[in-house]
Amino acid sequence: MLRRSVSVLSSKSFEYAAVTKKRRIKSWQLHEYGGIDELQLGSIRLPVIRDPNEVLVQVNAASVNPIDLLMIGGYGRNLFQIQRNFENELPLTVGRDFAGTIIAKGHKVRDGMKVGDEVYGFIPLHKQGTFSEVILANACHVLPIPKQLSSIESTSLVYATMTAWSALFIFGNLVSKQTDGLRVLILGCSGGVGTAAVQLLKSQDCVVFGTCSSDAVSLVYNLGADCVFDYTSPDFHKNVELEGRYHIILDAAQIGYQNIPKSWKYDTYITLNSPLLKSTDSYGLMAGLAYSASDLLDANLRAYKDSSCVKWGFFIPSTRGFEFVDDLISKEKIKPVIHKTFGFGKLQDAFKTVSEGHLRGKVVIDFSIDNDCNE
Ligand SMILES: NC(=O)c1ccc[n+]([C@@H]2O[C@H](COP(=O)([O-])OP(=O)(O)OC[C@H]3O[C@@H](n4cnc5c(N)ncnc54)[C@H](OP(=O)(O)O)[C@@H]3O)[C@@H](O)[C@H]2O)c1
Repeated sequence: MLRRSVSVLSSKSFEYAAVTKKRRIKSWQLHEYGGIDELQLGSIRLPVIRDPNEVLVQVNAASVNPIDLLMIGGYGRNLFQIQRNFENELPLTVGRDFAGTIIAKGHKVRDGMKVGDEVYGFIPLHKQGTFSEVILANACHVLPIPKQLSSIESTSLVYATMTAWSALFIFGNLVSKQTDGLRVLILGCSGGVGTAAVQLLKSQDCVVFGTCSSDAVSLVYNLGADCVFDYTSPDFHKNVELEGRYHIILDAAQIGYQNIPKSWKYDTYITLNSPLLKSTDSYGLMAGLAYSASDLLDANLRAYKDSSCVKWGFFIPSTRGFEFVDDLISKEKIKPVIHKTFGFGKLQDAFKTVSEGHLRGKVVIDFSIDNDCNE
Protein backbone atom coordinates (compact mmCIF):
# COMPACT_ATOMS: atom_id res chain seq x y z
CA MET A 1 0.00 0.00 0.00
CA LEU A 2 2.71 2.42 1.13
CA ARG A 3 5.05 1.50 -1.73
CA ARG A 4 2.28 1.94 -4.27
CA SER A 5 1.28 5.45 -3.20
CA VAL A 6 4.91 6.55 -3.02
CA SER A 7 5.53 5.48 -6.62
CA VAL A 8 2.39 7.27 -7.77
CA LEU A 9 3.56 10.31 -5.86
CA SER A 10 6.97 10.49 -7.47
CA SER A 11 5.56 10.24 -10.99
CA LYS A 12 2.90 12.84 -10.16
CA SER A 13 5.38 15.43 -8.99
CA PHE A 14 6.62 15.74 -12.58
CA GLU A 15 3.12 16.33 -13.91
CA TYR A 16 2.39 19.68 -12.36
CA ALA A 17 3.09 21.68 -15.55
CA ALA A 18 0.57 19.54 -17.41
CA VAL A 19 -2.03 19.98 -14.67
CA THR A 20 -1.87 23.77 -14.68
CA LYS A 21 -2.51 23.71 -18.44
CA LYS A 22 -5.69 21.76 -17.79
CA ARG A 23 -8.74 23.99 -17.69
CA ARG A 24 -11.10 21.59 -15.89
CA ILE A 25 -10.70 19.19 -12.99
CA LYS A 26 -12.87 16.56 -11.28
CA SER A 27 -14.55 17.57 -8.05
CA TRP A 28 -17.15 16.16 -5.65
CA GLN A 29 -19.76 18.86 -5.13
CA LEU A 30 -22.99 19.40 -3.30
CA HIS A 31 -25.66 21.39 -5.18
CA GLU A 32 -28.16 21.23 -2.35
CA TYR A 33 -28.00 20.13 1.26
CA GLY A 34 -29.21 16.62 2.01
CA GLY A 35 -27.85 13.08 2.36
CA ILE A 36 -24.82 11.30 0.93
CA ASP A 37 -26.57 10.96 -2.46
CA GLU A 38 -26.32 14.75 -2.88
CA LEU A 39 -22.55 14.36 -3.36
CA GLN A 40 -22.07 14.55 -7.14
CA LEU A 41 -18.83 13.99 -9.06
CA GLY A 42 -18.52 16.64 -11.77
CA SER A 43 -16.07 18.74 -13.69
CA ILE A 44 -15.25 22.29 -12.55
CA ARG A 45 -12.85 25.02 -13.60
CA LEU A 46 -9.32 24.82 -12.30
CA PRO A 47 -9.20 27.13 -9.23
CA VAL A 48 -7.20 30.33 -9.70
CA ILE A 49 -4.89 31.86 -7.08
CA ARG A 50 -6.34 35.24 -6.06
CA ASP A 51 -4.69 35.57 -2.64
CA PRO A 52 -0.87 35.93 -2.88
CA ASN A 53 -0.54 33.77 0.25
CA GLU A 54 -2.19 30.77 -1.37
CA VAL A 55 -0.81 27.64 -3.00
CA LEU A 56 -2.52 25.54 -5.64
CA VAL A 57 -2.26 21.86 -4.73
CA GLN A 58 -2.89 18.72 -6.76
CA VAL A 59 -4.46 16.45 -4.16
CA ASN A 60 -3.15 12.90 -3.70
CA ALA A 61 -5.20 11.95 -0.63
CA ALA A 62 -7.79 13.44 1.76
CA SER A 63 -9.51 11.97 4.80
CA VAL A 64 -13.24 11.87 5.61
CA ASN A 65 -14.21 13.43 8.94
CA PRO A 66 -17.57 13.34 10.75
CA ILE A 67 -17.83 17.11 10.11
CA ASP A 68 -17.99 16.40 6.33
CA LEU A 69 -20.98 14.17 6.89
CA LEU A 70 -22.66 16.85 9.01
CA MET A 71 -21.88 19.63 6.54
CA ILE A 72 -23.59 17.88 3.62
CA GLY A 73 -26.76 18.18 5.73
CA GLY A 74 -26.20 21.94 6.09
CA TYR A 75 -24.59 21.82 9.55
CA GLY A 76 -23.13 25.17 10.60
CA ARG A 77 -24.27 27.03 7.49
CA ASN A 78 -25.59 30.09 9.38
CA LEU A 79 -22.30 30.61 11.19
CA PHE A 80 -20.05 29.72 8.23
CA GLN A 81 -22.01 32.13 6.02
CA ILE A 82 -20.75 35.06 8.11
CA GLN A 83 -17.16 34.01 7.40
CA ARG A 84 -18.09 33.62 3.71
CA ASN A 85 -19.42 37.21 3.67
CA PHE A 86 -22.85 35.77 2.83
CA GLU A 87 -21.74 34.72 -0.66
CA ASN A 88 -23.65 31.76 -2.08
CA GLU A 89 -22.04 28.66 -0.56
CA LEU A 90 -23.39 26.20 -3.14
CA PRO A 91 -22.10 24.30 -5.01
CA LEU A 92 -20.02 23.24 -2.03
CA THR A 93 -17.05 20.88 -1.80
CA VAL A 94 -16.46 19.34 1.62
CA GLY A 95 -13.28 17.68 2.96
CA ARG A 96 -10.97 19.38 5.46
CA ASP A 97 -7.49 17.90 5.09
CA PHE A 98 -5.22 16.87 2.23
CA ALA A 99 -1.83 15.67 1.10
CA GLY A 100 -0.66 16.59 -2.38
CA THR A 101 1.79 18.36 -4.67
CA ILE A 102 2.15 22.15 -5.00
CA ILE A 103 1.54 23.10 -8.64
CA ALA A 104 1.53 26.90 -8.34
CA LYS A 105 2.08 29.49 -5.59
CA GLY A 106 1.17 33.10 -4.84
CA HIS A 107 3.97 35.67 -4.84
CA LYS A 108 3.90 36.14 -1.04
CA VAL A 109 4.39 32.45 -0.29
CA ARG A 110 7.77 31.92 1.42
CA ASP A 111 10.71 30.92 -0.78
CA GLY A 112 11.18 27.63 1.08
CA MET A 113 7.85 26.37 -0.28
CA LYS A 114 8.27 25.42 -3.93
CA VAL A 115 6.27 24.13 -6.87
CA GLY A 116 6.69 20.34 -6.93
CA ASP A 117 6.88 20.03 -3.09
CA GLU A 118 4.89 17.23 -1.46
CA VAL A 119 2.83 18.82 1.30
CA TYR A 120 -0.03 18.21 3.70
CA GLY A 121 -2.43 20.60 5.39
CA PHE A 122 -5.98 21.69 6.13
CA ILE A 123 -8.68 24.07 4.94
CA PRO A 124 -10.79 26.13 7.41
CA LEU A 125 -14.46 25.16 7.61
CA HIS A 126 -15.92 28.10 5.66
CA LYS A 127 -13.71 27.51 2.58
CA GLN A 128 -14.18 25.12 -0.34
CA GLY A 129 -12.89 21.70 0.75
CA THR A 130 -10.50 19.02 -0.42
CA PHE A 131 -12.49 16.38 -2.35
CA SER A 132 -11.30 17.96 -5.64
CA GLU A 133 -8.36 17.05 -7.84
CA VAL A 134 -6.87 20.53 -7.37
CA ILE A 135 -7.46 22.88 -4.41
CA LEU A 136 -6.40 26.25 -3.03
CA ALA A 137 -4.88 26.39 0.47
CA ASN A 138 -3.36 29.15 2.51
CA ALA A 139 0.40 28.52 2.75
CA CYS A 140 0.28 29.02 6.53
CA HIS A 141 -1.86 25.88 6.78
CA VAL A 142 0.53 23.77 4.70
CA LEU A 143 3.75 21.91 5.63
CA PRO A 144 6.03 19.39 3.87
CA ILE A 145 4.77 15.82 4.40
CA PRO A 146 6.80 13.88 6.98
CA LYS A 147 9.53 11.87 5.20
CA GLN A 148 8.46 8.48 6.55
CA LEU A 149 4.79 8.81 5.59
CA SER A 150 2.78 8.35 2.39
CA SER A 151 0.15 10.89 1.31
CA ILE A 152 -2.59 8.64 2.68
CA GLU A 153 -0.91 8.33 6.06
CA SER A 154 -0.08 12.05 6.24
CA THR A 155 -3.58 13.33 5.51
CA SER A 156 -5.09 10.84 7.95
CA LEU A 157 -3.36 12.69 10.79
CA VAL A 158 -4.16 16.32 10.00
CA TYR A 159 -7.73 17.21 10.99
CA ALA A 160 -8.10 14.62 13.75
CA THR A 161 -4.78 15.47 15.43
CA MET A 162 -5.37 19.21 15.08
CA THR A 163 -8.80 18.75 16.70
CA ALA A 164 -7.24 16.82 19.58
CA TRP A 165 -4.55 19.51 19.93
CA SER A 166 -7.11 22.36 19.83
CA ALA A 167 -9.38 20.71 22.39
CA LEU A 168 -6.61 19.78 24.81
CA PHE A 169 -4.02 22.52 24.38
CA ILE A 170 -6.26 25.54 23.70
CA PHE A 171 -9.58 24.74 25.39
CA GLY A 172 -7.99 22.45 28.01
CA ASN A 173 -5.17 24.99 28.42
CA LEU A 174 -2.36 22.39 28.26
CA VAL A 175 -0.37 24.98 26.36
CA SER A 176 0.40 26.69 29.67
CA LYS A 177 0.29 23.70 32.06
CA GLN A 178 2.77 21.21 33.38
CA THR A 179 1.58 18.15 31.46
CA ASP A 180 3.78 15.54 33.14
CA GLY A 181 1.50 13.20 35.13
CA LEU A 182 -1.73 14.97 34.11
CA ARG A 183 -4.59 12.46 34.19
CA VAL A 184 -6.75 12.59 31.07
CA LEU A 185 -9.72 10.36 30.23
CA ILE A 186 -10.72 10.16 26.55
CA LEU A 187 -14.27 9.01 25.83
CA GLY A 188 -14.18 7.43 22.36
CA CYS A 189 -10.43 6.73 22.22
CA SER A 190 -10.62 4.36 19.21
CA GLY A 191 -11.80 6.79 16.50
CA GLY A 192 -9.90 9.42 14.50
CA VAL A 193 -9.65 12.08 17.22
CA GLY A 194 -9.36 9.52 20.05
CA THR A 195 -6.39 7.62 18.58
CA ALA A 196 -4.62 10.94 17.87
CA ALA A 197 -5.41 12.28 21.38
CA VAL A 198 -3.98 9.17 23.10
CA GLN A 199 -0.66 9.55 21.26
CA LEU A 200 -0.54 13.34 21.61
CA LEU A 201 -1.06 13.10 25.39
CA LYS A 202 1.46 10.26 25.82
CA SER A 203 4.05 12.37 23.95
CA GLN A 204 3.55 14.96 26.75
CA ASP A 205 3.95 12.35 29.53
CA CYS A 206 0.31 12.49 30.61
CA VAL A 207 -1.40 9.49 32.23
CA VAL A 208 -3.93 8.46 29.61
CA PHE A 209 -7.20 6.65 30.25
CA GLY A 210 -9.63 5.82 27.47
CA THR A 211 -13.04 4.27 26.81
CA CYS A 212 -13.91 2.18 23.77
CA SER A 213 -15.68 -1.06 22.87
CA SER A 214 -14.09 -4.51 23.40
CA ASP A 215 -12.54 -5.02 19.96
CA ALA A 216 -10.57 -1.75 20.16
CA VAL A 217 -9.01 -2.23 23.60
CA SER A 218 -5.74 -3.80 22.37
CA LEU A 219 -5.38 -1.21 19.59
CA VAL A 220 -5.57 1.63 22.13
CA TYR A 221 -3.11 -0.07 24.54
CA ASN A 222 -0.73 -0.44 21.59
CA LEU A 223 -0.96 3.33 21.04
CA GLY A 224 0.40 3.78 24.57
CA ALA A 225 -2.71 4.31 26.73
CA ASP A 226 -2.15 3.53 30.42
CA CYS A 227 -5.64 2.21 31.15
CA VAL A 228 -8.45 1.33 28.74
CA PHE A 229 -12.06 0.79 29.86
CA ASP A 230 -14.36 -1.37 27.75
CA TYR A 231 -17.69 0.47 27.74
CA THR A 232 -19.57 -2.77 27.00
CA SER A 233 -18.40 -4.34 30.29
CA PRO A 234 -21.03 -4.48 33.10
CA ASP A 235 -18.51 -2.91 35.53
CA PHE A 236 -17.63 -0.07 33.17
CA HIS A 237 -19.02 2.87 35.20
CA LYS A 238 -17.59 1.55 38.45
CA ASN A 239 -14.15 0.91 36.89
CA VAL A 240 -13.91 4.47 35.57
CA GLU A 241 -15.00 5.82 38.96
CA LEU A 242 -12.47 3.70 40.91
CA GLU A 243 -9.52 5.31 39.09
CA GLY A 244 -10.30 8.57 40.93
CA ARG A 245 -10.37 12.15 39.73
CA TYR A 246 -9.34 13.13 36.20
CA HIS A 247 -7.82 16.49 35.37
CA ILE A 248 -9.54 16.42 31.98
CA ILE A 249 -12.26 14.33 30.38
CA LEU A 250 -12.23 14.73 26.58
CA ASP A 251 -15.54 13.63 25.09
CA ALA A 252 -14.90 12.41 21.52
CA ALA A 253 -17.93 10.08 21.52
CA GLN A 254 -20.86 12.50 21.81
CA ILE A 255 -21.68 11.24 25.33
CA GLY A 256 -22.45 14.65 26.90
CA TYR A 257 -21.47 15.76 30.42
CA GLN A 258 -25.11 15.40 31.56
CA ASN A 259 -25.07 11.67 30.67
CA ILE A 260 -22.00 10.52 32.58
CA PRO A 261 -22.42 9.14 36.14
CA LYS A 262 -22.27 11.75 38.91
CA SER A 263 -19.69 9.53 40.62
CA TRP A 264 -17.10 10.27 37.89
CA LYS A 265 -14.94 13.13 39.15
CA TYR A 266 -13.09 15.60 36.94
CA ASP A 267 -11.73 19.14 36.86
CA THR A 268 -12.58 19.96 33.24
CA TYR A 269 -14.97 18.22 30.82
CA ILE A 270 -14.38 19.15 27.17
CA THR A 271 -17.00 18.13 24.64
CA LEU A 272 -16.28 18.12 20.90
CA ASN A 273 -20.02 18.21 20.22
CA SER A 274 -21.19 21.59 21.49
CA PRO A 275 -24.76 22.68 20.68
CA LEU A 276 -23.46 25.91 19.11
CA LEU A 277 -23.66 25.13 15.37
CA LYS A 278 -26.85 23.07 15.70
CA SER A 279 -28.60 25.84 17.63
CA THR A 280 -27.59 28.59 15.21
CA ASP A 281 -28.86 26.36 12.37
CA SER A 282 -32.20 25.77 14.12
CA TYR A 283 -32.92 29.15 15.74
CA GLY A 284 -30.87 31.61 13.67
CA LEU A 285 -27.70 33.34 14.69
CA MET A 286 -28.61 35.50 17.68
CA ALA A 287 -31.15 33.14 19.26
CA GLY A 288 -28.83 30.17 18.62
CA LEU A 289 -25.88 31.94 20.26
CA ALA A 290 -28.05 32.91 23.25
CA TYR A 291 -29.43 29.37 23.59
CA SER A 292 -25.94 27.81 23.44
CA ALA A 293 -24.48 30.32 25.90
CA SER A 294 -27.26 29.59 28.41
CA ASP A 295 -26.70 25.83 27.94
CA LEU A 296 -23.00 26.25 28.73
CA LEU A 297 -23.72 28.52 31.70
CA ASP A 298 -26.23 26.01 33.08
CA ALA A 299 -23.68 23.17 32.67
CA ASN A 300 -21.06 25.18 34.54
CA LEU A 301 -23.39 26.19 37.37
CA ARG A 302 -24.08 22.49 37.99
CA ALA A 303 -20.43 21.50 37.64
CA TYR A 304 -19.33 24.31 39.99
CA LYS A 305 -20.66 22.38 43.01
CA ASP A 306 -18.05 19.69 42.32
CA SER A 307 -15.32 22.25 41.57
CA SER A 308 -15.50 21.19 37.92
CA CYS A 309 -16.06 23.06 34.68
CA VAL A 310 -17.47 22.22 31.27
CA LYS A 311 -16.00 23.55 28.02
CA TRP A 312 -16.66 23.24 24.32
CA GLY A 313 -13.76 22.11 22.13
CA PHE A 314 -13.37 22.96 18.44
CA PHE A 315 -10.84 22.44 15.68
CA ILE A 316 -8.72 25.63 15.53
CA PRO A 317 -6.91 26.35 12.22
CA SER A 318 -3.69 27.30 14.01
CA THR A 319 -0.34 27.47 12.22
CA ARG A 320 1.47 27.11 15.55
CA GLY A 321 -0.64 24.09 16.47
CA PHE A 322 0.06 22.47 13.10
CA GLU A 323 3.82 23.01 13.50
CA PHE A 324 3.63 21.49 16.98
CA VAL A 325 1.78 18.33 15.86
CA ASP A 326 3.89 18.08 12.68
CA ASP A 327 7.01 17.93 14.85
CA LEU A 328 5.52 15.04 16.86
CA ILE A 329 4.39 13.27 13.68
CA SER A 330 7.85 13.67 12.10
CA LYS A 331 9.45 12.21 15.25
CA GLU A 332 6.98 9.27 14.99
CA LYS A 333 5.43 10.10 18.37
CA ILE A 334 2.07 10.23 16.61
CA LYS A 335 1.49 7.50 14.02
CA PRO A 336 -1.36 7.03 11.56
CA VAL A 337 -4.22 4.66 12.34
CA ILE A 338 -6.17 3.93 9.17
CA HIS A 339 -9.53 2.21 9.24
CA LYS A 340 -9.99 1.92 5.46
CA THR A 341 -9.01 3.62 2.18
CA PHE A 342 -11.29 4.22 -0.81
CA GLY A 343 -10.60 5.34 -4.38
CA PHE A 344 -11.61 8.89 -5.41
CA GLY A 345 -14.62 7.54 -7.34
CA LYS A 346 -15.96 5.83 -4.20
CA LEU A 347 -16.37 8.90 -2.00
CA GLN A 348 -20.03 8.14 -1.30
CA ASP A 349 -19.08 4.66 -0.01
CA ALA A 350 -16.44 6.23 2.21
CA PHE A 351 -19.07 8.59 3.65
CA LYS A 352 -21.38 5.61 4.31
CA THR A 353 -18.58 3.88 6.23
CA VAL A 354 -18.04 6.98 8.38
CA SER A 355 -21.80 7.29 8.97
CA GLU A 356 -21.96 3.68 10.21
CA GLY A 357 -19.52 4.53 13.05
CA HIS A 358 -17.29 2.06 14.94
CA LEU A 359 -14.23 3.49 13.20
CA ARG A 360 -10.76 2.41 14.26
CA GLY A 361 -8.80 5.44 13.13
CA LYS A 362 -9.42 7.20 9.82
CA VAL A 363 -11.21 6.66 6.52
CA VAL A 364 -9.03 8.04 3.70
CA ILE A 365 -9.59 8.78 -0.01
CA ASP A 366 -6.74 7.80 -2.36
CA PHE A 367 -6.91 10.08 -5.43
CA SER A 368 -4.50 7.88 -7.39
CA ILE A 369 -7.13 5.16 -7.78
CA ASP A 370 -10.66 5.57 -9.01
CA ASN A 371 -12.68 2.76 -7.50
CA ASP A 372 -10.67 0.43 -5.28
CA CYS A 373 -11.10 -0.01 -1.57
CA ASN A 374 -8.46 -1.38 0.80
CA GLU A 375 -8.84 -2.30 4.45
N1 LIG B 1 -15.86 20.38 17.39
C1 LIG B 1 -14.99 20.10 16.45
O1 LIG B 1 -14.29 20.98 15.90
C2 LIG B 1 -14.83 18.67 16.05
C3 LIG B 1 -13.78 18.29 15.19
C4 LIG B 1 -13.62 16.93 14.89
C5 LIG B 1 -14.50 16.01 15.42
N2 LIG B 1 -15.54 16.44 16.21
C6 LIG B 1 -16.48 15.47 16.79
O2 LIG B 1 -15.74 14.62 17.65
C7 LIG B 1 -16.27 13.31 17.62
C8 LIG B 1 -15.14 12.32 17.35
O3 LIG B 1 -14.64 12.52 16.04
P1 LIG B 1 -13.86 11.34 15.34
O4 LIG B 1 -13.34 11.86 14.05
O5 LIG B 1 -12.91 10.72 16.29
O6 LIG B 1 -15.06 10.31 15.08
P2 LIG B 1 -14.96 8.73 14.83
O7 LIG B 1 -13.70 8.45 14.11
O8 LIG B 1 -16.25 8.33 14.25
O9 LIG B 1 -14.79 8.11 16.29
C9 LIG B 1 -15.79 8.04 17.24
C10 LIG B 1 -15.42 6.84 18.13
O10 LIG B 1 -16.24 6.81 19.27
C11 LIG B 1 -16.51 5.45 19.59
N3 LIG B 1 -17.70 5.40 20.44
C12 LIG B 1 -19.00 5.48 20.10
N4 LIG B 1 -19.79 5.43 21.19
C13 LIG B 1 -18.95 5.34 22.25
C14 LIG B 1 -19.13 5.26 23.64
N5 LIG B 1 -20.34 5.27 24.19
N6 LIG B 1 -18.05 5.21 24.45
C15 LIG B 1 -16.81 5.21 23.93
N7 LIG B 1 -16.56 5.26 22.61
C16 LIG B 1 -17.62 5.33 21.77
C17 LIG B 1 -16.67 4.79 18.24
O11 LIG B 1 -16.40 3.38 18.24
P3 LIG B 1 -17.47 2.32 18.77
O12 LIG B 1 -18.82 2.83 18.40
O13 LIG B 1 -17.15 1.02 18.14
O14 LIG B 1 -17.27 2.29 20.24
C18 LIG B 1 -15.60 5.51 17.42
O15 LIG B 1 -14.37 4.82 17.47
C19 LIG B 1 -17.36 13.28 16.54
O16 LIG B 1 -18.62 13.38 17.19
C20 LIG B 1 -17.10 14.54 15.73
O17 LIG B 1 -18.28 15.08 15.19
C21 LIG B 1 -15.71 17.73 16.54
